[in-house]
Amino acid sequence: MSSTLFRTKKVEQSILDTEEPEHALKKSLSALDLTVFGVGVIIGTGIFVLTGTVAKNNAGPSVALAFVAAGVVCALAALCYAEFASTVPVAGSAYTFSYASLGELPAWIIGWDLVLEFALGTAVVAVGWSGYIASLMDNAGWQLPEALSGREGADGFGFDILAAALVLVLTGILVLGMKLSARITSLVVAIKVTVVLVVIIAGAFFIKGDNYKPFIPDSVPVPAGDDLQSPLIQLMFGWAPGNFGVMGIFTAASVVFFAFIGFDVVATAAEETRNPQRDMPRGILGSLLICTTLYVAVSVVVTGMQHYSELSVDAPLADAFKATGHPWYAGFISFGAAVGLTTVCMILLLGQTRVFFAMSRDGLLPRFFSRVHPRFKTPHRPTILLGVIIAIVAGFTSLSELAELVNIGTLFAFVVVAIGVITLRRTRPELHRSFRTPLVPFLPIVSVLASLWLMLNLPAETWVRFGIWMAIGFFVYFLYGRSHSRLGRHEETTVGQIMKPPRGDAQ
Ligand code: ALA
Repeated sequence: MSSTLFRTKKVEQSILDTEEPEHALKKSLSALDLTVFGVGVIIGTGIFVLTGTVAKNNAGPSVALAFVAAGVVCALAALCYAEFASTVPVAGSAYTFSYASLGELPAWIIGWDLVLEFALGTAVVAVGWSGYIASLMDNAGWQLPEALSGREGADGFGFDILAAALVLVLTGILVLGMKLSARITSLVVAIKVTVVLVVIIAGAFFIKGDNYKPFIPDSVPVPAGDDLQSPLIQLMFGWAPGNFGVMGIFTAASVVFFAFIGFDVVATAAEETRNPQRDMPRGILGSLLICTTLYVAVSVVVTGMQHYSELSVDAPLADAFKATGHPWYAGFISFGAAVGLTTVCMILLLGQTRVFFAMSRDGLLPRFFSRVHPRFKTPHRPTILLGVIIAIVAGFTSLSELAELVNIGTLFAFVVVAIGVITLRRTRPELHRSFRTPLVPFLPIVSVLASLWLMLNLPAETWVRFGIWMAIGFFVYFLYGRSHSRLGRHEETTVGQIMKPPRGDAQ
């Protein structure tokens, strides 16, 4: 039994699979496309919305340090992702990497985990986008009926029609093909980066030194309440729950970590990259470096413009300009944020469908979903199915609790990928790696510990929700995936060999 649960898919087989015409994606992306993709998905709700909340509630001006801490955790993970992505250039990101190194069950767990990360991430960002659009409409004097704005109307019904519509439109764009998506993404990323630079450069003129005092506010105990709301680490060690102070920086880091989610999505497009061996590491590390620099600069500027206790939680960047008497900048920033969140949503959706596609191609989910569209060469079936589900979720849910669930899922994926790098070095030392993680096994071990540390700083209830989702995943695997696994079927007939399935098997 354990030998089947940990059966691994050969790296060569993963690459071979992508060459079957019916299951092949177009190879059209360059390193620049990937970097643009990365920046397109990384900069979003995290910097535009969470900066204010976290500065106000957890860290004060030291939110900049929280971004540094989260950025370091991501950089460590990125170095592991880059080696895996350049060794196994196949759709599916951490899922594929784990299948090649750790075995089928760990791969299933990670694939299931990534579906959660991307689906909820898409929904969270769509809701954030809808808020900015609603605020822009409000400026023009238009308002949606309450029942269609996501807030419950008088009849108790609330559906966020804007968020749902965004997801459906983006689904259509993705079905039409990668190249179209990449072009739109480039334009939108340019607008978003311009807005962020405007915040940094224009905002720097309105900084008041007094707002940085104290840079790390003294720790403040939180009133006793629902224990499950406290970070797990505080419950484990019986520490009094508190905000601010040095521990507040880590609590803040575990939340603003959401702002970095996305560089791992770049890895999911490996199969669609022209020269993945060279371009993947460049795309992943390049986009991460650009974003970390911008985040630290934005948070230093914004907490310098307004005292942290006065920052707004809905639109902190725009409102800081309003507070200094510059509403024109505020309108421009709101517009850029709304435009920018569109690409974040689109790329998370893309990553999600690619993971689902890869799992289906391996037979762990029904093979029906891994037929690419004959004309557009995109995995249209999972794209449409998941797009509709996410649109419904985005319509009915609010963002705050979901963001933490997304974070725990992503950090868990980081842990698995780092372990995978060490494992694959041992089991397949001869494989060509155009990018090699430095200092193995030391660096991946530090990456595991750093990711676990942030996970422990998330609320206990987030751990409970994550546990429930993973339990459902185990159920699905043992009920369906294990017996339908394409790898498992081969082992029964041709032990130890790598061979293509008969055509009929691909139904
Ligand atoms: N990193 C993305 C954001 O901040 C998911 O919205």
